[in-house]
Amino acid sequence: MMKRASTPYAFAAATASLVLAAVMSCSSSRQVKYTSLDWGSANVAAGRRLFVAVCAGCHGGDGSAKTAVAGVYVPAPRDLSKGIYRFRTTSSGTLPLRRDILRTIAEGLPGTAMPAWKQQLDQRQLMSLVLYLETLTPRFRDPDLKPEADDVIVKPGAVHPPPLTRALLVRGRDVYRKLKCADCHGERGRGDGPAAKTAKNTDGTKSHVFDFTTGIYKGGHRPVDVYRTFMTGLDGTPMPSFADSLPTETDRWALVYYVLSLSRDRGLWFYLRYRPTWNDPARP
Ligand code: HEC
Ligand code: HEC
Repeated sequence: MMKRASTPYAFAAATASLVLAAVMSCSSSRQVKYTSLDWGSANVAAGRRLFVAVCAGCHGGDGSAKTAVAGVYVPAPRDLSKGIYRFRTTSSGTLPLRRDILRTIAEGLPGTAMPAWKQQLDQRQLMSLVLYLETLTPRFRDPDLKPEADDVIVKPGAVHPPPLTRALLVRGRDVYRKLKCADCHGERGRGDGPAAKTAKNTDGTKSHVFDFTTGIYKGGHRPVDVYRTFMTGLDGTPMPSFADSLPTETDRWALVYYVLSLSRDRGLWFYLRYRPTWNDPARP
């Protein structure tokens, strides 16, 4: 009798713990702020301690990435003492903004060994890491290299994807041909263009030209992310900025949609279906 009576209690306890787990997992999914940040609340010394604890295994304590895993991961962890950043909202050849580095650390670089840290570290810890990264290279201390307002070519809230139409996709295919994206990325976007085999990064390492059919974008796969990538270029790699060769917004978005439509698992239907969630003014 006792045994049978315990069943509903066990059930109730199990349900309660499930609900609790769900609530806890919701509260631990952190929102990272990228704008209106108080950088004074972050702390370089705390950033250094964190870096040594969680990043140094890949990037080395001094950021130079001379670590045991350097020969294991492809692409290898980056030498952060060079101060050359791929993922920025600033024009080609300039330093990133603090919020650009914050974004890379928080969101990670999908498809590479670089993890997303936003679930493990809080806003202040992420910001402290950014301040520490700035100390690894003299470039951030050079006033001439400090990005000016007009170096910020992709501004938060100023980028608005138009609705996706068939006409835009067709136009995108033409732009892709006209700008010769295929030289590197290949006719079908598989990363197998004629220039891909010999492509090198500025540090002399082999460059891995992106394969659009994978749909796994390091810089993020939302249209605003892809837009940012080809507007700014990826410094240190052969991927140039196309901001000047694409003067109209229509051609830019046409290219974004065309490139996204090349992905095998996230084809056109995926983008038609999820389009309403694309506008996210908080993140450029
Ligand atoms: C498991 C290995 C690993 C760990 C741990 C790791 N990274 Fe990385 N990180 C990478 C790899 C690999 C890349 C280069 C990816 C590429 O070249 O596409 C990278 C790239 C970067 C970049 C370059 C971004 C750019 O715009 O060019 C930054 C900044 C960075 N990591 C910061 C950090 C910080 C801060 C931590 C600790 C919180 C960290 N990483 C921990 C593997 C790691
Ligand atoms: C000279 C060679 C070259 C040309 C031309 C080129 N790319 Fe790239 N592209 C690259 C390389 C190399 C990478 C990968 C860089 C890395 O992550 O190390 C890349 C990466 C990208 C990415 C980023 C994917 C991610 O991981 O987030 C996008 C988007 C992109 N290219 C779009 C374009 C478009 C659109 C064009 C034409 C307007 C173009 N590229 C022309 C070499 C090129």
